[in-house]
Amino acid sequence: MTAGGGSSAVAGGSALHIPVLGPSALALLNVHDGGVYIDGTFGAGGYTRAILETANCKVIAIDRDRTAIALGAGLVEQAGGRLTLVEDRFSNLDTVAHDCGHEQVDGVVLDVGVSSMQLDQAARGFSFRHDGPLDMRMGSEGPSAADVVNAASERDLASIIYILGEERFSRGIARAIVKARAEAPIATTRRLADIVASVVRAKPHEIHPATRTFQALRIFVNDELGELANALVAAEQVLKPGGRLAVVSFHSLEDRIVKSFLASRAETRGGSRHAPEVKRAAPSFQLLTKRPVIADEAEIARNPRSRSAKLRAAERTAAPARSDDLDLLPRLPSLAAVLKGR
Ligand SMILES: C[S@@+](CC[C@H](N)C(=O)[O-])C[C@H]1O[C@@H](n2cnc3c(N)ncnc32)[C@H](O)[C@@H]1O
Repeated sequence: MTAGGGSSAVAGGSALHIPVLGPSALALLNVHDGGVYIDGTFGAGGYTRAILETANCKVIAIDRDRTAIALGAGLVEQAGGRLTLVEDRFSNLDTVAHDCGHEQVDGVVLDVGVSSMQLDQAARGFSFRHDGPLDMRMGSEGPSAADVVNAASERDLASIIYILGEERFSRGIARAIVKARAEAPIATTRRLADIVASVVRAKPHEIHPATRTFQALRIFVNDELGELANALVAAEQVLKPGGRLAVVSFHSLEDRIVKSFLASRAETRGGSRHAPEVKRAAPSFQLLTKRPVIADEAEIARNPRSRSAKLRAAERTAAPARSDDLDLLPRLPSLAAVLKGR
């Protein structure tokens, strides 16, 4: 099955935006007539459009970004009642489905992270390549990256940058941030990028020295890992037996969460070689991808961003949703605690 290959075409053309790993994700989602699908990351609507074109089905699409929702109004109109677009966080996807009148759905797809639309707008403050306010919020509420950078203790800043950015110069960067903000609050992406570049010296062929610090702050400000972990649990609640979950992630921290969650939910027995076997509840998912699906050379050539994409998918079984708590998230202080500066 390929994206856009179905009979119930939605006007507007699928060439506008080709989602990363779109055809593979769609095939794993097993889109069929009469089905109801949740696209938790509407963005520019690439996945939603492809799902609507594949079969005579319905889509509930979610995005926390008000701009993405507003830009999707045209597609809602073209879809003639088959698309509902909701401004919310995907961690609430089960509640959103219920509010839309669906107790269960046939598929959930997540294409997590930031969109190029968000990265390219200087005013959103995601990118060190464009000067803009140091914001980085995908949604319209909550503290910004500037709030975090100007309030957090040196220790918390170093932990955030080390854990979420996997940046080995995190301590030096945190020290430089604290020194710089004593002179004047750090309000712009350019100023933060310059502070980081004064500590991290990149060679010409290496990524921009501020890449990992910006990534860390973005993930922290938007609680991206917590959102993902909660969305997986919500999907388990709302998928019907035989329903499919497909997740595309771009970062090893995200992929680890998806991999651990699915592996644990697909497991029948626990315990180690040295301990007695523990009987667990019946598996709530069956894995469809033992290894992640990755982009081929042709896709990487078309879209270099797809190089780090990983797609994992699983099918919901008829067993009840599991209640065992999983330790999926890295240890970091909460956003509220960090803002107190401690
Ligand atoms: C990589 S883009 C998705 C692109 C989309 N698949 C397409 O084909 O255009 C990710 C989108 O997910 C949204 N997003 C990220 N985290 C979210 C969350 N926790 N809840 C809802 N939307 C979220 C972002 O605002 C962004 O628009």
